[in-house]
Amino acid sequence: MSYELLLAAEEGKDLSAADLLCLLSIGGEEEKALLESADRVRSKWVGDTVHLRGIVEFSNFCIQNCLYCGLRRGNRALTRYRMGLSDILAAAEKVRERGYGTVVLQSGEDPWFTQDRVADLVRNIKRKTRLSITLSLGERSYEDYETWKEAGADRYLLKHETASPDLYRHLRPGRELGERLRCLKWLKELGYEVGSGNMVGLPGQTDQDLVQDIQLFKELDFDMIGISPFIPHPRTPLAAESKGDLGKVLRILALTRLVTRDTNLPATTASGVIEKGGRLKALRSGANVVMPDLTPPKHKRHYHIYPGKTSISEGDQEIREAILSIGRSVGQGSGSRVRR
Ligand code: 5AD
Ligand code: SF4
Repeated sequence: MSYELLLAAEEGKDLSAADLLCLLSIGGEEEKALLESADRVRSKWVGDTVHLRGIVEFSNFCIQNCLYCGLRRGNRALTRYRMGLSDILAAAEKVRERGYGTVVLQSGEDPWFTQDRVADLVRNIKRKTRLSITLSLGERSYEDYETWKEAGADRYLLKHETASPDLYRHLRPGRELGERLRCLKWLKELGYEVGSGNMVGLPGQTDQDLVQDIQLFKELDFDMIGISPFIPHPRTPLAAESKGDLGKVLRILALTRLVTRDTNLPATTASGVIEKGGRLKALRSGANVVMPDLTPPKHKRHYHIYPGKTSISEGDQEIREAILSIGRSVGQGSGSRVRR
């Protein structure tokens, strides 16, 4: 790698697949320079504010059988739950009381939550809290997405997971990458702010695949992009695989910041799970969002997507202090993407 390439990237030069591949595998001083460069681009384009969003995981039922995920329908060992409307509302109120501008309503792919039930939920939460509402309920029909947008949903999170069609097909049995991308396209058309993202260190994933992830982020111009290390779950077919590498996650995050400039990039929970302080490292390598989990504790422990997720500390004071300790401020309001 040359520092000239990095300098050019910081100034906004388009990076080719070969450039990205090269920058993905650097180490030592060069790697440090890459992360610092992304930190400067972050500061210049989205500022020093860290936006907080509160997640409420309201159902861990899922009809899918993704090889990597603890909520997969084949995992019989998991205690399943669905929160009722009033409990979900109360959890959303807590998000508002903490002073966050956005609630993220997340679940497995759970058809019990029909178009009408979700629309009701969205309307109620909007009326009671006035929060920005992000939905993250997986792949649904165009009509579902349309109805929920009309009901007051503002954003939708749907990670593309991996840009390799073959790896995708293998890891999500019966599903196709194209179907996922079609959902993402619909969501954009409907006027949602759209978040996507990937996992890093999936078994069988190559550096070329990761470069394609970054190119897809750029091409589809997502408003938010979550980049997480893969963490093997003992009750899945991938139990014996190795976990993703935080260093690589940070390099991909940094490259994503260099390439996309003004998107919102969360310091993902999984980054904090594979290494204590991982989220702070992410915030210094291009990230500008943190999403604390505000699911009530009795349910939270059953939203067991990967090990360690349920025990990461999410105290409000602690998170705020950590953000201030690295010279950043905590955002007010909804923290939407501001295009520049
Ligand atoms: N490790 C890290 N992230 C995971 N996800 C699912 N399983 C894992 C895992 N084992 C992520 C996926 C999915 C979201 C619900 O959680 O990216 O979109
Ligand atoms: Fe279900 Fe999502 Fe987990 Fe796949 S990743 S099993 S769709 S919750």
